[in-house]
Amino acid sequence: MNNKHYYIMTFGCQMNEHDSEIMAGMLENMGYAETEKRAEADVIVINTCSIRDNADKRFFGSLGQLKRLKTENPDKIVAVCGCMMQQQHIIDSIKMKYSWVDIVFGTHNIHLLPELVNQVINERQKIIDVWDEHQGVFEGLPSKRKYDFKALVNITYGCNNFCTYCIVPYTRGRERSRKPEDILSEVKELAASGVKEVMLLGQNVNSYGIADGFDMDFADLIYAINDIEGIERIRFMTSHPKDLSDKLIGAYRDCEKLANHIHLPVQSGSSRILKLMNRKYTREDYLEIIRKLREVTGNTIAVTTDIIVGFPGETEEDFQETLSLLEEVKYDSAFTFLYSVRKGTPAEKFENQIPEEIKHERFNRMREILDGGMADNNKKYEGRTVKVLVEGSSKTNIKTLTGRTESMKIVNFAGSRDLIGKIVDVKIIEGKTYSLVGEVI
Ligand code: SAH
Ligand code: SF4
Ligand code: F3S
Repeated sequence: MNNKHYYIMTFGCQMNEHDSEIMAGMLENMGYAETEKRAEADVIVINTCSIRDNADKRFFGSLGQLKRLKTENPDKIVAVCGCMMQQQHIIDSIKMKYSWVDIVFGTHNIHLLPELVNQVINERQKIIDVWDEHQGVFEGLPSKRKYDFKALVNITYGCNNFCTYCIVPYTRGRERSRKPEDILSEVKELAASGVKEVMLLGQNVNSYGIADGFDMDFADLIYAINDIEGIERIRFMTSHPKDLSDKLIGAYRDCEKLANHIHLPVQSGSSRILKLMNRKYTREDYLEIIRKLREVTGNTIAVTTDIIVGFPGETEEDFQETLSLLEEVKYDSAFTFLYSVRKGTPAEKFENQIPEEIKHERFNRMREILDGGMADNNKKYEGRTVKVLVEGSSKTNIKTLTGRTESMKIVNFAGSRDLIGKIVDVKIIEGKTYSLVGEVI
């Protein structure tokens, strides 16, 4: 019987989700078992995100809740890691106000978690071990994956783009790519273990291999994975418009496993704001990419995006350009954000910060247009039969199954739980704003 338990709480993006899978793998190798109950855990890890201010606040809220558990059981180990820990002002707050934290580590040394836990157990002292820069790419770490049928696969780490609003280049360090042979052998192993869908991860997958001088670029990697038997769907995240090549657009024509979807963050529809954001493309460049992608896929590709409203200096005219771009592209879905000031980024010092009420008002107007476009797009699915990778029970109704189409649409339908992990044909009966309803055929 296993009587040591761990609990991991994860905030943030897929990078963090995957780092948590690796930390879970390492803790299992140490003999810990996962628990859903924090009170039962001997080791609690909080993997943090710092992308916006509300992410920081949620972390401090969760940390506050752990004080009582730690007082009741001082042997419990509380470890915090992730992007927030790469910032000195956060470490200072933890030292001053959250004395019940035992271990602080960062994004560059998650592989040390077992050592740090053992050190706390043996020496009963607090440890702060955050590295300023990465020491290369670590291969061969274990991982306890959340799903058996789909997997996250890192291809690059870090980011060199320094968008003026963004904290990631400071928390994840410089961009570096995993070697093609390491990625391909991981994907082959995943396929052999029954994984059908891989999601290739990087802050800017399109610059894969360039900084490291590899012969293989991102499009080559897609072609190579397309040839791996057992893999049925290839996805990637995130694609930066400035580095999206015609060769990658060609892969949508040639690679039948490449999902007919692209997540292509635009951030703003105004070229003036894009310049202030240091995005290195214009509205016209972006629209040209969308045109080519639609051309090569016979106008079938699903397009999703990220948008920030209320970037410093954004005028009503700039915002109107974002709205008109949304009307023009008609996105299938969008993550929309209020600009949030991040300490240490260039935009923190920009003049003309936008008042919160204007940000909110613009945000609501933008959502209305986006939702209208999404509802229209989803209506077009009615009567069509689509392939769905079944992921589990629906969040709202345990008796209903949920899964995703190639285009990333959520589909809810009745069916047996035996279908989980399989790709099935589903006929769409209703297209709602945020999801589709269907029946298995
Ligand atoms: N590397 C990815 C984005 C990762 S962060 C890319 O370049 O597309 C995910 C999203 O969070 C970004 O696309 C952006 O829309 C949003 N974001 C990042 N920093 C932000 C900030 N300071 N305020 C509001 N939104 C932000
Ligand atoms: Fe942040 Fe820009 Fe890098 Fe994306 S590309 S992680 S938005 S700096
Ligand atoms: Fe957040 Fe770090 Fe990801 S800041 S979005 S967890 S890279």
